[in-house]
Amino acid sequence: MKVLVVGSGGREHALVWKIAQSPLVKKIYAAPGNPGIAELAECIEIGADQIDQLRQFASDQKVDLTVVGPELPLVHGIVDSFQAVGLKIFGPSREAAKLEGSKAFSKNLMAQAGVPTAAFQVFDNVAEAKRFIVDREPPFVIKADGLAGGKGVLIAHSCEEGVKVVNQMIQDRLFGDSGKLVVIEEFFTGDELSVLLFTDGERVLTLASSQDHKRVFDDDQGPNTGGMGAYSPCPFVSDQELNEIVDKAARPVVQELARRGTPYRGLLYVGIMMTRSGPQVLEYNVRFGDPEAEAILPRLKTDIVPIMMEVASGKLKTQSLEWDLRPCITVVIASDGYPGSYKTGFEIKGLDQAKLQDVCVFHAGTARGPSGAITTNGGRVFSVSALGESFKEARDLAYRTVKNISFEGAFYRNDIGKKVFEKTEVK
Ligand code: AMP
Ligand code: GLY
Repeated sequence: MKVLVVGSGGREHALVWKIAQSPLVKKIYAAPGNPGIAELAECIEIGADQIDQLRQFASDQKVDLTVVGPELPLVHGIVDSFQAVGLKIFGPSREAAKLEGSKAFSKNLMAQAGVPTAAFQVFDNVAEAKRFIVDREPPFVIKADGLAGGKGVLIAHSCEEGVKVVNQMIQDRLFGDSGKLVVIEEFFTGDELSVLLFTDGERVLTLASSQDHKRVFDDDQGPNTGGMGAYSPCPFVSDQELNEIVDKAARPVVQELARRGTPYRGLLYVGIMMTRSGPQVLEYNVRFGDPEAEAILPRLKTDIVPIMMEVASGKLKTQSLEWDLRPCITVVIASDGYPGSYKTGFEIKGLDQAKLQDVCVFHAGTARGPSGAITTNGGRVFSVSALGESFKEARDLAYRTVKNISFEGAFYRNDIGKKVFEKTEVK
């Protein structure tokens, strides 16, 4: 089989790494890929959102399965475009991808399907949004409707701040057209949990639980990022609780989309907050999480390729997944300044010393410089994942590896998995 993986981040490196282990696969292409991916796949110079060129490439090379990593091409309809010419592709259609592409669509669908989620209202008008805010108690969670690269959710701690944010989003177009509609919702507190599942539009197959670390600095300080680290599994959620969450938070929307004639086929990511009133859905993503994929896939023993083929065909037959019982911890190494502006082009050292057993160094924002050296090329540069007999072992190994890798301005959180490690192992 020939497989094409679309994207260039740590998530796509983890997907390529996992797909490369399948005995069914003879050749992997990645578009555009990165230098880490290039060790396992042939990288093609086509951007992840150049849908027409990707479709032409997949047709010309007779690719048997295309796997889409990031949300943008999914929201722009890459799946519909490939299917129109008979190409097999793993991911939801444009209509089903609205679950991530439009927060208003997603919240209305949740309400219709009876999924537990924050009370909300949608606004396209500054005056109405302001009236809503001044009548209520802060804090307010204000979300741009469309894609905003993980930056479109702001929490306002006063009415004045709320009004300012609404003005910035709707009037000043802080997030472009993505913010011409905003969702204002109730604020929750609690531990966050990422629940990922494969679905063919009817059946679901749940992956191991994981937790992201969204804030840029230790102890959950600083602004939100794409994710600074993750671990899997989440010991504070039992298998039974995970099944209950899937039944309440995922199945109803899968069923509702099928009922509407737009079944969801692909990987569905449910962002959950464990609140005092039970699990609540914060968001859906229509693809693997990044860095959750890097923490989950090293633990997956089952061949992922047949599952993706089954899902893409609308007939998910695989009924269970086999897991490495050891926990995995993923630490992201980022460029100084991320998630704001940062410099790139710095040479990376120590990658050879980081080749250790039970460790995966997934490349994200890296490039090959003119001299052949690997250099930084993005905000999140690597995801370092380590497996261990315990969370402590996994954590120690991940951080030992991270310390080997260096470049100017490199930084990472020091507390990935710290809370879980303290809860589960320090008595
Ligand atoms: P979203 O893209 O909707 O998941 O939001 C991004 C992040 O904002 C989440 O991972 C949470 O940390 C935070 N967030 C979103 N919705 C809420 C909420 N209703 N209450 C508190 N925090 C939230
Ligand atoms: N790690 C969160 C996301 O992928 O959206």
